Amino acid sequence: MSFETLHWKQDYDTGVREIDLQHRFFMDLINRMHEELQGSTDAHYRAALFEELSNYARFHFVSEENLMFKFGYPDLDHHRMMHRRLIDELSWRAQEKSYDAIFDFLVRWFIAHTVEEDARIGRFLARQGEG
Ligand SMILES: [Fe+2]
Ligand SMILES: [Fe+2]
Repeated sequence: MSFETLHWKQDYDTGVREIDLQHRFFMDLINRMHEELQGSTDAHYRAALFEELSNYARFHFVSEENLMFKFGYPDLDHHRMMHRRLIDELSWRAQEKSYDAIFDFLVRWFIAHTVEEDARIGRFLARQGEG
């Protein structure tokens, strides 16, 4: 299995406290899910774990979108569209047999979206004197 436990790095911080707390939780959830899936072949439990991850991702995305809305973030529509795509991809990937593919996707999501895209929100809020 190519997955290696994710560890928080300073680069991951957006500087927005609420977002950073949620990202840490999300990273822990990915790690925990990886451990749990290795220890269980129960299809119902596996589906329930994906539901937990998906629900948290949805909660986090709405939370981020509300923050962007509140501060007039100019790229909100595009960012919201990226969130929708991630949720859609997660729901079809949850059906995949290969854990490698699922965790590759989750790690790419965490690094590429969380670190690159969400960092833009942090920089925007910092320019506004918020965050
Ligand atoms: Fe995020
Ligand atoms: Fe985001």
